[in-house]
Amino acid sequence: MIYLDYVSTTPLNTEVKSMYESLLKDYFANGDSLYSLGLQTNALMEKSRALVAQMLGVKQNEIIFTSGASESNNTAIKGCAFQYANRGRHVITTAVEHSSVYNTFIQLRDVFGFEVDFLKTNIYGEINLNELRSLIRQDTILISVMMVNNEVGMVFPIHEIREIINNTNPKIKFHVDMVQALGKLPLPIADVDLASFSAHKIYGLKGSGVLIKKDTTTIVPLISGGQQEFNLRGGTSNTATHTMFAKTLRLALENQQAHYEHTMKINLYVRQELLKIPGIVINTPEKAFSPYILNFSCVGYKPEVLLHALEAKEIYVSTKSTCSSHKNDVSRTLHAMGISQDIAQSAMRISFSHLTTIKEIDQFLIDLKDVLNTIKKQR
Ligand SMILES: Cc1ncc(COP(=O)(O)O)c(C=O)c1O
Repeated sequence: MIYLDYVSTTPLNTEVKSMYESLLKDYFANGDSLYSLGLQTNALMEKSRALVAQMLGVKQNEIIFTSGASESNNTAIKGCAFQYANRGRHVITTAVEHSSVYNTFIQLRDVFGFEVDFLKTNIYGEINLNELRSLIRQDTILISVMMVNNEVGMVFPIHEIREIINNTNPKIKFHVDMVQALGKLPLPIADVDLASFSAHKIYGLKGSGVLIKKDTTTIVPLISGGQQEFNLRGGTSNTATHTMFAKTLRLALENQQAHYEHTMKINLYVRQELLKIPGIVINTPEKAFSPYILNFSCVGYKPEVLLHALEAKEIYVSTKSTCSSHKNDVSRTLHAMGISQDIAQSAMRISFSHLTTIKEIDQFLIDLKDVLNTIKKQR
């Protein structure tokens, strides 16, 4: 099997798996119980919180464990919008966010009556910072911009956005979805008020996430309940899962630079070889991109047909973002980048890891050429 969909999810690290299994067995008690079993379980989770805080460079009380980045994004965005609504009801994001951000903003607009501006990008995946500056108003309360786009791989200038906020309306809260940057790129934690993370993108457990919320930011909780997670997320804590976040993160941060360099080599090699195939267009920009993601179009072909033909050869790729893969329309991201319809509707995404080898890539290229030769163009 050749797995080229690491952006969608990653295989579970075996060290994480075995420690998780023993936690489930030995530390099953409710972390809020007052007897020693509960206290021990809680202590493990709090140790994990302290380690995660240390690794991410924030305070322990700024780490909120969640069920994944979708929850972190919803909590950050709606929590902020509701908290600061008395200050203003204008919020800004981009049109290329992950669905858990984009649809939260749609909900803020359509259900809760907020005014939302969606920034588009140019064909190179760049947002126009002057446009952002001109959109900021006195009643703007929140800006949310992802760090690495999960479909195309462009990297947005988080530090520059923070400077714009500081120079225009410093009261604005700045949230960044850092899911595709964690364990891959240095994180500009100092520049943000809130940031979202997910464990299953870094060889950890599914249903496991973190929200950083700096203690200078207040949010309205989305799940009212007990005192768990600083009163921000009621419900019995998933202690074993939260405990595993620290180990997962430590393993992901180890050798980050070496993994980045390996992946960059893979990425540049694939780009060079794909461009030798007639009719292939690369949609990922050449500047400010994450080497872990590559989006390209086999113009004239239906990507779902190519995906299944490659699957028959045990090669796993993606069409667009997995969270929107069941919709039949053209990718919202490619559309917002201004990529033409014929290119956008034949786009595919491959994504790499430090585990990806040149041998795997060579096999993928052979099989892709074979599939392109045997399958008829559909468009
Ligand atoms: C950029 C980005 N944000 C958020 C998410 C959602 O993460 P999760 O699956 O942990 O909810 C994903 C993954 O699908 C993602 O790629």
